[in-house]
Amino acid sequence: ETIEWDPEQAGKGEYDHFMLKEINEQPTSLAQALEGRIDPLNGRIALSDFEPGTFDGVDSVQFIACGTSYHAALYGSLALNQAGVHSTALLANEYSVSAPPIDDDTLVIAVTQSGETADTLNALRRAAAEGARTLTVTNVVGSTAAREADDTLFIRAGPEIGVAATKTFSSQAVMLTLLGQRIADDSRGEPPADLESLLPALESMPGKIDDLLEYSTAEAIADRYSRSEAYFFIGRGLGFPVALEGALKFKEITYEHAEGFASGELKHGPLALVTPETPVFAIFTGQEDEKTLKNAEEAQTRGAPVVAVCPDGHPAVEVADEHLRIPDTDPDLAGLVANVQLQLVSYHAADLLDRPIDKPRNLAKSVTVE
Ligand code: G6P
Repeated sequence: ETIEWDPEQAGKGEYDHFMLKEINEQPTSLAQALEGRIDPLNGRIALSDFEPGTFDGVDSVQFIACGTSYHAALYGSLALNQAGVHSTALLANEYSVSAPPIDDDTLVIAVTQSGETADTLNALRRAAAEGARTLTVTNVVGSTAAREADDTLFIRAGPEIGVAATKTFSSQAVMLTLLGQRIADDSRGEPPADLESLLPALESMPGKIDDLLEYSTAEAIADRYSRSEAYFFIGRGLGFPVALEGALKFKEITYEHAEGFASGELKHGPLALVTPETPVFAIFTGQEDEKTLKNAEEAQTRGAPVVAVCPDGHPAVEVADEHLRIPDTDPDLAGLVANVQLQLVSYHAADLLDRPIDKPRNLAKSVTVE
């Protein structure tokens, strides 16, 4: 008797798909990303290539990225704004027609898992030609974006095979949050206020995600709603890029219509789409949650089932039709743990619909043409 040996199948280990394997790897990939880079006991960031003073004189930051990396970039940019530094996240493919002005004090950060996305490389080259200081945040050592930028920060997520980015998103967002604190510290000349709570929260994040992967009820939620007409995701502040990413992941692998909105924007148009056939996933991060809850209730009044993604004991649990539990954590990281639940919802919905999860139609892991 011969045993069929399929290397791809072997690489998946106990999992049916690389995507599920990679979702489950996040406790490890995040711990790897953070290894030696934080020092919570002494309340300091320990990014060895980015000692205090590295970003002296930087007065604004532009992030450039595409796809899921753009959502991580938006996350990093909003966190930087919250830390008091001027920053914007720009779609790399729009950069040539809509880049804001650049000067010597502008830092341009390319966020790209592969380091080979043509749109992102073009934007990076343009920024460098205009005199910006450049930095690449990537997963791939030796990639073009890593080689071409002035500085590089590696996210150390390990290889990601599934076309839909999962573990690289969480590692990008975490590293951008950490890097942002260093930039804010240097640029403003004073340590950001929330470093004291952020560092221990970062340290405990892998363990909390490990627990979440155990208690997640995402499969049951996916089962309940996977035959809906459309799926909406809402969040505010750092929950907004997570809403966008939740919807992108969902559409990429289920082929169903999904959209992410800023919670407060729902009433300015999208509410016209809301019906009993359009579940709304509401992400609560601890920043103005009462407003997001009100926005979710507006959808619920129109018959939409609301799934609250929030910790136990949160006021939204009482109001919502379903609850996806996340651990209590720092508001800077709550959206990222919520995102793990949303990854699982997308995965299980796609599985129920029998989609080719690791290789969705028409999509490529890395797009090297404009
Ligand atoms: C492709 C992939 C996306 C990815 C995007 C950016 O479109 O399908 O999953 O987010 O490229 O890739 P990058 O390697 O630059 O992060």
